[in-house]
Amino acid sequence: MDQHIQTTEALKKQALEDLERVEDEKSLEEFYNRHLAKKGKISALMTLIGMVADKAAFGAAVNSARQAVTAAFEQKKAALAAKALENKLKNDRIDLTLPGEPTPIGHINPYRLIIDEVTDIFLDMGYEVCEGRDVETDRFNFELLNVPKDHPSRDMQDTFYFGDDFLLRTQTSAAQAHRMCEAEEKRPIRMIAPGKAYRRDDDDMTHSHQFAQIEGLVVDKGISIAHLKATLELFAKKMFGQKREIRLRSSYFPFTEPSVEVDVSCFNCGGKGCAMCKGTGWIEILGAGMVNPRVLEACGYDPEVYSGFAFGVGVERVAMLRYGIDDIRRFYQNDFRFLKDFPIK
Ligand code: DAH
Repeated sequence: MDQHIQTTEALKKQALEDLERVEDEKSLEEFYNRHLAKKGKISALMTLIGMVADKAAFGAAVNSARQAVTAAFEQKKAALAAKALENKLKNDRIDLTLPGEPTPIGHINPYRLIIDEVTDIFLDMGYEVCEGRDVETDRFNFELLNVPKDHPSRDMQDTFYFGDDFLLRTQTSAAQAHRMCEAEEKRPIRMIAPGKAYRRDDDDMTHSHQFAQIEGLVVDKGISIAHLKATLELFAKKMFGQKREIRLRSSYFPFTEPSVEVDVSCFNCGGKGCAMCKGTGWIEILGAGMVNPRVLEACGYDPEVYSGFAFGVGVERVAMLRYGIDDIRRFYQNDFRFLKDFPIK
């Protein structure tokens, strides 16, 4: 074989061996410069062309050497890139089994849990939920509810006034009056209105100047006290257990006639008598009554056609009984140690 072709073959062999030792991108670049670049060894072979006899055979040999080395170089380049990617993936791998950074989650105040529970019970019975408003007018908080300006029962509900007409509502009952007055057509109503109420009070274990109530109102044709009793009995059973019973005691509220206090048989002792029910077997849970015809009339419902019942539940009281909370002030002190005892739903 022509000596120059032999030299070409040798150069090719050496280049391929050289390539075997290349292990990173830097040495790959050096390899390229040494062998394949314009000034590299393979190109340099062409300077010999003047000395060879069979120029065509030599040219072909140089070309095939260049092609072989170039192909091997490309292969190496791809292999190095794949390896680099693999390393990167290996090093950057995220361990999904590691626990994440815990984000502190707040807890729901227990009085909210009670509101949600009561709301669910009445939603199941087809009631709508009305929001009411915290700042009320004298008219909605008192007058439409049959408590005129000079009525003595106002004394029990002294509150925070803004001028003569506006006040922080003393009772969610104001929401009843709104619902009735705002009904464009005087159609039947089944509503509850959970929310805050405010009264001037000296705070202690059982009194708070702010508290929550859930108001209920049903207005329809032919509503009697039997509907009131059946509804509240169902509510008491769902809230405090299937075995509970209720009893109605006569009472007084200006906006209902007749008015009752509703007791539930003690869910702690089952009615035998214990510390929770103060030995009586009964626990008072809410006030209720048949909507006073004067209220219906004042709010635009004809009392000759419509009748209704209403009730008001003290939320904190129910929460205190349910969760064994000893002091009403805990609901409003934002002490995380207290709040964290209650589950997040
Ligand atoms: N508003 C009354 C209160 O704050 C509770 C109440 C009693 C509401 C009887 C009613 C009701 O709707 O019928 O003490």
